[in-house]
Amino acid sequence: MKKLFITAGALALVAPLLALASPADDLKEFRAYYFKKFPGVSLQEYANGIYGIDKGRAVEWESMEEFPPYEPGVDIGKELFTKYKVGSCFKNGGIGIRQNYPYFDTKSGKIHTLEADIMACLKKNGVDVKAEKIGFKKGKLAAISAYMGYNSRGKKLNVVVPNDPRALEMYQRGKIHFYAKRGQLNFSCADCHMYQSGMSARTNLLSPALGHTTHFPVYRKKWEAGGSGALGGFGTLHRRYGGCNKQVRAKPFKAQGDEYTALEFFHQYISNGIKINAPGVRQ
Ligand code: HEC
Repeated sequence: MKKLFITAGALALVAPLLALASPADDLKEFRAYYFKKFPGVSLQEYANGIYGIDKGRAVEWESMEEFPPYEPGVDIGKELFTKYKVGSCFKNGGIGIRQNYPYFDTKSGKIHTLEADIMACLKKNGVDVKAEKIGFKKGKLAAISAYMGYNSRGKKLNVVVPNDPRALEMYQRGKIHFYAKRGQLNFSCADCHMYQSGMSARTNLLSPALGHTTHFPVYRKKWEAGGSGALGGFGTLHRRYGGCNKQVRAKPFKAQGDEYTALEFFHQYISNGIKINAPGVRQ
C-alpha cells in the first residue's frame, strides 16, 4: 500500500508538468532551457557530458581520448558482431543505424531498443546467451552495441515518436520517470541533470541531460577497475540508469524492462539532432 501511495503522490506532483505538450514542443523547451543556462555551448557540445560545459575538465578528458581506452573493446565488439552475424538482423547490415534507436514498431506496438534487438538477434542466430552469460548491462552485448555506436558516429540522433497512442503512452511514462522524485533522497533525474546541472555533487559535476544518450554505451574507468579485461569498462544506458537510481537510494528497475525502455525513449528523443559519438569515455 505504502508504495502505491508514494507513486500516486509523485504522479500528482509532476502532473502539471505533463500537461499534454507534444514531444516536439518538449524538445524545443528542453533545448531552450539548457541554451539559457549555458550560453555559448553549442548543441553538439552537449554530446560530451560534463566536458561540454566545463573547459577545465575537458583537458582531463582529451588526455583520455588520446589513447582511447575503449578501442580494444570496440575491436572485440566488432569480432563478436561478425562471429554472431548480428548484421543479418538489422537494416543496412547493422552499420550506421544507431541514431534510429530506440524505435516504435507499429506492428507489435512495442519500443525496440538497440540492446534488446541485439539480444533477440543473438538468440535467433542460435547463440546460447545463458551459457555465454550475455546480459543487457555490460560485457559482450555492451561491446557489440559500442561497436554499432562507433560505426554510426557522426549521424544525428533521430528518434521518432509517432502519433500512435501506444508510442505516446511510453513516451509519457518515460517523461514522468524523468521528472518524478524518487528514492530516500527524493531526487528526480531532472533535479540533478537539469536544475542542478553544472553544479557539483560531492566531487562530481552534474551533466546536462541534453545529449546524455549520444555516447552510450560508455566506457568508464570506474567500471574498468571493477571488471574483467577489455570489456570490463563498458556499460549500457540501462546500467547507468540503475546506478543513478541507486544514488538516490531508489531500487533500480530491470534493464530492458518497460520502465527503463520508456525512460530511454524519452531521454533519447529529447537529444535528437545531436550526433552519435559512442562509445564515450568517462571517469
Ligand atoms: C543525486 C543526483 C543524481 C540523480 C538524481 C541522477 N543522477 Fe545521473 N548522474 C549523477 C552523477 C553524479 C553522474 C556522473 C557525472 C555526470 O556525468 O553527470 C551521473 C551520470 C549520469 C549519466 C552519464 C552521463 C555521461 O555523460 O555519460 C546519465 C546518462 C545519467 N546520469 C542519467 C540519469 C537519469 C536518467 C536519472 C534519473 C533516473 C539520473 N541520472 C538521476 C547524479 C544523478
